[in-house]
Amino acid sequence: MFDAMIISKEQIFADLKPLLASTTLVRVNESLAKKTTLRVGGPADVFVEPASEAELSAILQFCSERMVPWMALGRGSNLLIRDGGIRGIVISFFHPAFSKIEIRDARMHCGAGAKLKNVSVEARRNNLSGFEFLEGIPGCVGGALRMNAGAMGASMFDLVESVRIMDAHGNVHDLPRGEIQANYRACPLLKENIAVAAVLRGQVAAAEDVAQKMKEFSHKRWDSQPAQPSAGCIFKNPLTIPAGKLVDELGLKGTRFGGAMVSDIHGNFIVNDANATAREVIELIQIVKRRAKEVRGIELETEVQIVGED
Ligand code: EPU
Repeated sequence: MFDAMIISKEQIFADLKPLLASTTLVRVNESLAKKTTLRVGGPADVFVEPASEAELSAILQFCSERMVPWMALGRGSNLLIRDGGIRGIVISFFHPAFSKIEIRDARMHCGAGAKLKNVSVEARRNNLSGFEFLEGIPGCVGGALRMNAGAMGASMFDLVESVRIMDAHGNVHDLPRGEIQANYRACPLLKENIAVAAVLRGQVAAAEDVAQKMKEFSHKRWDSQPAQPSAGCIFKNPLTIPAGKLVDELGLKGTRFGGAMVSDIHGNFIVNDANATAREVIELIQIVKRRAKEVRGIELETEVQIVGED
């Protein structure tokens, strides 16, 4: 969420820090590149890692009262942060308070910071099917809800029974699935609210069947997607053709701009091949978009979230 910011980062730090517990981390000028899978981008003016829901609420109340912009950061796996970094406060969900996974019946109660990999492994351990596709997505529950992340024909909201959100004033609401709109790679509600936890529902199954499915998905992923740093798929799939296939047919795989390169394994990935900058990645995105429009008349839309200042 970005509004006009009228106080400096030093002032934000000085005014916010005393409101928070010592267990909540607060830092100025925190480098963010390594907190994203693409490994590019500038710093956060102020970076916070709340140690509880109450602390998160205090931060959001502060932002709302002082008109400080904020942004929620998950595992940074679908994020392209511009080189100038992010004004205001970046809120991370790395604190263990947000990464709990508890299983009751066929339901998984997950904190927003829980890694998707851990969710899928816990599901397998507890004979639950439906979570296998999460295995290779390098994100966390909060980010996956925000983007309605998907793979292997399934997506996050297929699993959701309810989501616990915090609004921009720091108030918590538990919403059933039926009250939340979710589309292909989008959940509009979570643009202005933060998912703090979710209840996900699977089906009881034999552990070996779940394990087998996870293995197949993993092989499929590693056979078709690059291992180099990337932000996952850069573009949403147009209705008429998968973006990766389109980029492939345009002959753009392997195209470079500075340290950024269109993956030669999968056309919908841009990899950070040699200390790329955000500007180089964005320029390469534009090159691909222009070609798709010129040659095939297709307007590619980015799936990756591009944030921050140039
Ligand atoms: N293809 C090519 N050349 C390429 C890449 C793909 O011809 O360079 C072809 C494939 O052979 C296949 C089709 O395009 O026939 C689709 O490719 P793929 O199966 O890899 O799926 P995708 O649509 O490109 C989607 C998700 C991925 C997810 C995979 C696996 C989107 C934008 N992408 O990719 O999600 O991992 O399915 O299920 O929906 C992400 O969201 O970041 C992401 C990586």
